[in-house]
Amino acid sequence: MTREITLTRPDDWHLHVRDGAALETVVPHTAAQFARAIIMPNLKPPVTTAAQAVAYRDRIRSAVPAGMAFEPLMTLYLTDNLPPDEIRRAKEAGVVAVKLYPAGATTNSDAGVTDIRKTYATLEAMQREGILLLVHGEVTSPDIDLFDREAVFIEEQLMPLRRDFPELKVVMEHITTKEAAHYVASADRYLGATLTAHHLLYNRNAIFTGGIRPHYYCLPVLKRETHRVALVAAATSGNPKFFLGTDSAPHPAHLKEHATGCAGCYTAHAAMEMYAEAFDAVGALDKLEGFASFFGADFYGLPRNTGTITLRKESWTPPESFAFGEAELKPLRSGEALPWRLAV
Ligand code: NCD
Ligand code: ZN
Repeated sequence: MTREITLTRPDDWHLHVRDGAALETVVPHTAAQFARAIIMPNLKPPVTTAAQAVAYRDRIRSAVPAGMAFEPLMTLYLTDNLPPDEIRRAKEAGVVAVKLYPAGATTNSDAGVTDIRKTYATLEAMQREGILLLVHGEVTSPDIDLFDREAVFIEEQLMPLRRDFPELKVVMEHITTKEAAHYVASADRYLGATLTAHHLLYNRNAIFTGGIRPHYYCLPVLKRETHRVALVAAATSGNPKFFLGTDSAPHPAHLKEHATGCAGCYTAHAAMEMYAEAFDAVGALDKLEGFASFFGADFYGLPRNTGTITLRKESWTPPESFAFGEAELKPLRSGEALPWRLAV
């Protein structure tokens, strides 16, 4: 049985760090594990200009503890009227991607896209400049069952979009269904997908075990076990189209433990440990390095990292909560022991 594994330093290709005082807690957690992370732009108000992305990057860099090397990779938030010109400025500023949130799909997505056709001139500019499109792949229609929204999005939105922009690199973020895993696996090299640790470890029962458990609620919501199994198969397949993106999404505990609790699971404090657990459960630890450390960088056209991290099979219990500005942040599995531990 493997008790220790050393990997090339990994990257997180989908991360929320918020802003202000929250950065002081969450940025060090990610920087302790990952060399780089794709920073989601769904602030209030969202990051829609190159200048805002550069200023946000500076704030994140200021929260990296001395002696740690961590590079935030910035994204812009796609709206119905993000000007194509902004794409050129973004490229010059080092922004690597633009995030598409269908309006109303998830946390802070009110300014998102109401009709994808309104963004075509901007998508054209992105295809030309080599800026990636990152997709929250869920339709928002109340007529579509919550659990079917990803599969419907693929048919209704993503397939037409990819036909119209065949050379735009697209990442389907945090996929949660077998339909998405199959679609990505069968697509050409311009489509990839990120997978979270929580969608590899849990099915939807986790939200309802012994009472409603708001800390397991995220979007896209956890699905049936058949889907979780398909996601684990994709992540551990060695197919380079599938790579790591935690979607670690911190919220104040009092807003998750609430009548209308926010969507988002916080995993950054122990992300690699949770992925190791999921890969170990199917005897696929040998596939973790490609998924965590190589395939995302290759897809984005960025250099692979140097340096390593080591994970040990050694039970430990992370803190039950962290400071989050004035509030409290409860991580996923708060108070529970984890079987894998990052060696320091
Ligand atoms: C994210 C957040 O809180 O910003 N929430 C979530 O449930 N994943 C938004 C998102 O990525 O959908
Ligand atoms: Zn997210």
